[in-house]
Amino acid sequence: MRLLHNIGQLATCRSEGGQGEIHPVMDAALVWDGATIVWVGQAQALPAEYRELERLDAGGRLVIPGLVDCHTHLAFAGWRAEEFEQRIAGRSYLEIARAGGGIMATVRQTRAASESELVDRAARFLEEMLALGITTIECKSGYGLDEATELKLLRVYRRLAGEQPIRLLPTFLGAHVVPAEFRDNRGGYLELLIDRLIPHVARDGLAACCDVFVEESAFSIEEARRILLAARRLGLKAKLHADQLTSAGGAELAAEMVALSADHLEHVSERGIEALARSGVVAVSLPLASLYLRQPPMPARRLIAADVAVAVATDFNPGSAPSYHLPLALTLACTLQGMTPGEALKGATIYAARALGLEQEVGSLEAGKSADFALIDAPDVTHWLYHLKPNACLLTVVRGAVRWTAADRASQPA
Ligand code: NIG
Ligand code: FE
Repeated sequence: MRLLHNIGQLATCRSEGGQGEIHPVMDAALVWDGATIVWVGQAQALPAEYRELERLDAGGRLVIPGLVDCHTHLAFAGWRAEEFEQRIAGRSYLEIARAGGGIMATVRQTRAASESELVDRAARFLEEMLALGITTIECKSGYGLDEATELKLLRVYRRLAGEQPIRLLPTFLGAHVVPAEFRDNRGGYLELLIDRLIPHVARDGLAACCDVFVEESAFSIEEARRILLAARRLGLKAKLHADQLTSAGGAELAAEMVALSADHLEHVSERGIEALARSGVVAVSLPLASLYLRQPPMPARRLIAADVAVAVATDFNPGSAPSYHLPLALTLACTLQGMTPGEALKGATIYAARALGLEQEVGSLEAGKSADFALIDAPDVTHWLYHLKPNACLLTVVRGAVRWTAADRASQPA
């Protein structure tokens, strides 16, 4: 059993209350036993039985639940920095995709990469995520778009889940776009997804969720419904890339499917917002993608006003969001979307956990939950996201084990 004491602010991020209610405890202490939290509260109320435990001193700083990045495209080969320059020059995401860039450019490189190359590269990203205080991430396939490569990506995640500490929740995104070789045979690609890939993924337990990119340039509402129903019949939970570039009724479909989440929603309609609120689907905001694509972000305030839980994630991918800096995404949620620091933090902890169906295990600091937390070099949540100090995370604990400390960074080769 271990004790973290002298915590200036501990953001419990319990689920109850609204988006802004992070239920902070000042002058707090936290006790964990093995992988599980056993006690959280004000230091002065610490039960006598815990007073003599081995202690870690938080130095009056902030402690948050381990961050949950509930939307990433973690495994891919290559980068697309040239598209960053093209977009700055005024070319749109869709123009670039039509000219053979975009998702298909990454698909070509990912097909050519070996499984161990992809594992090594994603492992390096995960190490740096851990150093930011991230302890759980969702990771999508979707840069294979053929049987061999989609399964290769999901095997990469399975290996990584066993080899490094961050908790991974894999999502099958074979329905990212229709690959070039099926351009004149969409039906054929849908058959491949529904009759072969989804059954294979479900049978081998390679993914927990199934995602579809619903967009004029990707999949229609009817196609997405067919794919998600097939996945649901085999036990995969639905997620959607919805209303990102155009308003296409993606949010309404997410509500109809009672999906875990509807993600992006930059162009969500009023009816879409109402449908999400009625069905309790989490809206996942991806402000880094809006920033990089130079488009207005999801109207988070309107969603929160309608009582929709808004999660915040990175969308880490080589095109629209080449950064896994989740704290930066939280600061952007504040400055670009008018969320308060507390609302943003709740969006990357308990609401993000809800968007993954992991709300009972992670996302808040409460007795019985997994001992996943981070010590941040700031006096409180507001100061952390305001200053966004580089290397602000001093300690990351996952399932009760100290997996990263600032001292580790000092000892790493330059
Ligand atoms: O979430 N929208 C579709 N997929 C990604 C972009 C992927 C890419 O450009 O490679 C997204 O923004
Ligand atoms: Fe995405």
